Amino acid sequence: MVEDLRLDSLEGVGPVTTRKLSDAGVHNVMDLIVRGPVDISEITGMEKDTAEKIVNKARKHLVEGGLIAKDFISASELYKTRQSIGKISTGTNCLDTLFDGGLETRALTEVYGEFGCGKTQFAHTMSVMVQKTKEEGGLEGGVLYIDTENTFRPERIVQIAQAHEMDPEKVLDNIIVARAYNSAHQTLILEEAGTIIEENNVKLIVADSAVGLFRSEYLGRGTLSVRQQKLNHFVHLLVRIAETYDCAAIATNQVMASPDVFFGDPTRPIGGNVVAHTSTYRIYFKKSGKKRIARMVDSPHHPEEEVIFALGEAGIIDPEEAEKKTKKTTKKATTKKAKEAKTKATEPEVEATVEPEVEATVEPEVEATVEPEVEATVEPEVEATVEPEVDMVEDHGADITSDDF
Ligand SMILES: Nc1ncnc2c1ncn2[C@@H]1O[C@H](COP(=O)(O)OP(=O)(O)O)[C@@H](O)[C@H]1O
Ligand SMILES: [Mg+2]
Repeated sequence: MVEDLRLDSLEGVGPVTTRKLSDAGVHNVMDLIVRGPVDISEITGMEKDTAEKIVNKARKHLVEGGLIAKDFISASELYKTRQSIGKISTGTNCLDTLFDGGLETRALTEVYGEFGCGKTQFAHTMSVMVQKTKEEGGLEGGVLYIDTENTFRPERIVQIAQAHEMDPEKVLDNIIVARAYNSAHQTLILEEAGTIIEENNVKLIVADSAVGLFRSEYLGRGTLSVRQQKLNHFVHLLVRIAETYDCAAIATNQVMASPDVFFGDPTRPIGGNVVAHTSTYRIYFKKSGKKRIARMVDSPHHPEEEVIFALGEAGIIDPEEAEKKTKKTTKKATTKKAKEAKTKATEPEVEATVEPEVEATVEPEVEATVEPEVEATVEPEVEATVEPEVDMVEDHGADITSDDF
């Protein structure tokens, strides 16, 4: 650990306090900032005043060391600081456009959408992309992947790494996976992540899903405020870690389609406003046939824009890439068909059946499956995402109204 970050490098923090903090999982000055005075007081039994003093000292110490920004800075200084924010390319033109270059560090990006819309694929892809060199759009950093749904697949990482011509073994080595078994465990992982982040030069933290365990453990109205409070704690922790350690953070959140609900804000993700208010960026993924639509929602500086992307062996891909592949396979299939037709056909029938059949299958099939898919599904559904989202609600829609969040 950097000498400067040791707890006892703070004036007035002796061995007793250091031990008290360490026992509670607070190992360095960064951890003090991440946890904040209320938490520190709760977990150590220290007086709130004392905790506040220590956390303030920690903040001052890090500001002086140039590790975190000052409390008051001019807008031009802030502008300069923002220029140094890291960006992780998504490896696609479409999503890089949406993100204005890539996924930002020191920010929490919430990705929400229905089951199967590609949230986990996105998280996997970014876990590979962050490891690329700066020239290639990465940050040469490691990943802390908090998996709450048991959907992390090293096999997918290998495929994505290979598609990007990276050494799969090295890529796997740089991803620390933490399987969270319940919401308290999920929070604990994050509370104790400081050392792992430092030791592995973690530049991306994934919480997939961030909300699922909280939702399943705290059902019903009675427990709702506890759930929101605990979720709030988790999400704030994630933001503070991202800011303090200059990491990008992704929190995924699932929404359910429910055709029978006709009130409330239908686009609201399950985590409700707790996650929404805390996230810096919010991206909404939606299925559109084989393609996917990503929309930037509520960004402080991006326009509310939509792009089309696709999912493939390489993870998140540009729609053109997916089309190329479809075209190839469709063409192969139709040529094969045409050949079969030719060999099967007897002489006099050649004119009557083979020729038109070839015409009828080859050309239009390509058109019918490949080209117009974009037109047919994308254009109208872009509109469709806005309106019919009336059926997007959180799955406990019956017991939770928009006032609950
Ligand atoms: N190896 C793969 N090649 C192509 N597409 C894949 C592959 N693995 C998963 N997918 C796509 O990803 C989808 C699942 O996306 P996922 O990210 O798991 O959804 P969720 O939003 O629920 O996390 C599948 O329906 C499939 O379309
Ligand atoms: Mg998933």
